[in-house]
Amino acid sequence: TLAGLDLRAEIDRLRTERNAVILAHYYQKPEIQDLADFVGDSLDLSRKAAETDADVIAFCGVRFMADTAKILSPDKIVVLPDMDAGCSLEDSCPPDQFKAFREAHPDHIALTYINCSTEVKALSDVIVTSSSAEKILSQYPPEQKIIFGPDKNLGGYLVRKTGREMLLWPGVCIVHEAFSETELLKLKAQHPGAPVAAHPECPAVILDHADYVGSTSGILAYAADFAGDTLIVATEPHIIHQMEKSLPNKNFIGAPGADGNCNCNICPYMALNTLEKLYVALRDLEPRIEIEEGLRLRAKKSLDAMLSMAS
Ligand code: 13P
Ligand code: SF4
Repeated sequence: TLAGLDLRAEIDRLRTERNAVILAHYYQKPEIQDLADFVGDSLDLSRKAAETDADVIAFCGVRFMADTAKILSPDKIVVLPDMDAGCSLEDSCPPDQFKAFREAHPDHIALTYINCSTEVKALSDVIVTSSSAEKILSQYPPEQKIIFGPDKNLGGYLVRKTGREMLLWPGVCIVHEAFSETELLKLKAQHPGAPVAAHPECPAVILDHADYVGSTSGILAYAADFAGDTLIVATEPHIIHQMEKSLPNKNFIGAPGADGNCNCNICPYMALNTLEKLYVALRDLEPRIEIEEGLRLRAKKSLDAMLSMAS
C-alpha cells in the first residue's frame, strides 16, 4: 500500500536518484503538470524527449507520446505510468487497414497525425502535430497527392484552411467530438463577446464558432493575450490549469458537452495517469516502453522528417 507516503516528496527523491525527467502533456491532472520538469504540446514534448540527457523519461501523457519518446531516444528507459493510456485516434487506425489504404493510393504520400501507433508511423512519410501541420503541408508542391490520417477533423480543417484536397482517414478524437454546438451557443449567449479558442480536433460545427483555432500551445498563447476577461476553451479542460496559473484575474470556461458542462470532455486515457502510478513507475522503472528495432527505425524516419520540417 502507498498509504502514508508523501508522494510528491517520493517522486522528487526518485527523480534525482534515477536521473529522470518527467514530461507531461497539458491534458494531465494539475498535480502532475505541477511537478513535471516540462509541460508541453505534442511537438514540444517530442523535441524534449529527443534532446534530454536524463537516463529515464517518465512520460505523463498517452501511449503514442511515450512511444514517440522511445523512438527518438532509444537508449533511455521510457516509462508510462499506465500502459492502458491509449487514444481513440490511434485505435481508429489499425496498421493493416492503413497499409491497405496506402496501397490503394500508390501515388499519394501519407502525412500522418502523431496521434497514431508506431506501426502507422512506420507506414507514413511524414508525421505532423497540430502545431506543425500547416507549416509541413505547405512544404509539399500543390500537385503532390496526400493521404491524411487518422483525424478527419484536423484533416478537414487543414483542407478548408489551405484549400488543398487530401484523402482523409475517418478517425476522430472522442473527447473533441463530444462538444455540443447547442450548448456552446447557449454559453456564448451567457458571456456576450467572450471569444472561443478551439483545438482543430473539434468537428467543423464547433470550429465554425471559434475565434482562434490551434494546438494546445497555440491556445495557451492566445489565452495569454486575448482582449476581454472571459475565454471559452474548446479542448480538454485540464489545459485551463495553466491559464489559471498564469492569468489568475481572467475567467476561463471549458466548452460544454451535451450535458451542459465540460466534464464529459476530460480525456479518459490521459486521466489514467495518477501521482500514485507515476511514483510506482519511477520506483520500479515499469511499465516500460519497448519497441522492436526494425520497426523503430522505420517509424523514426517519418518523425525525423517532422522534426526537420517543423523547425
Ligand atoms: P497538441 O498538444 O499537440 O495540440 O495535441 C493535442 C492532443 O489531443 C494530444 O492528444
Ligand atoms: Fe487521443 Fe483525444 Fe485523448 Fe488526445 S484528447 S489522447 S486525441 S482521445
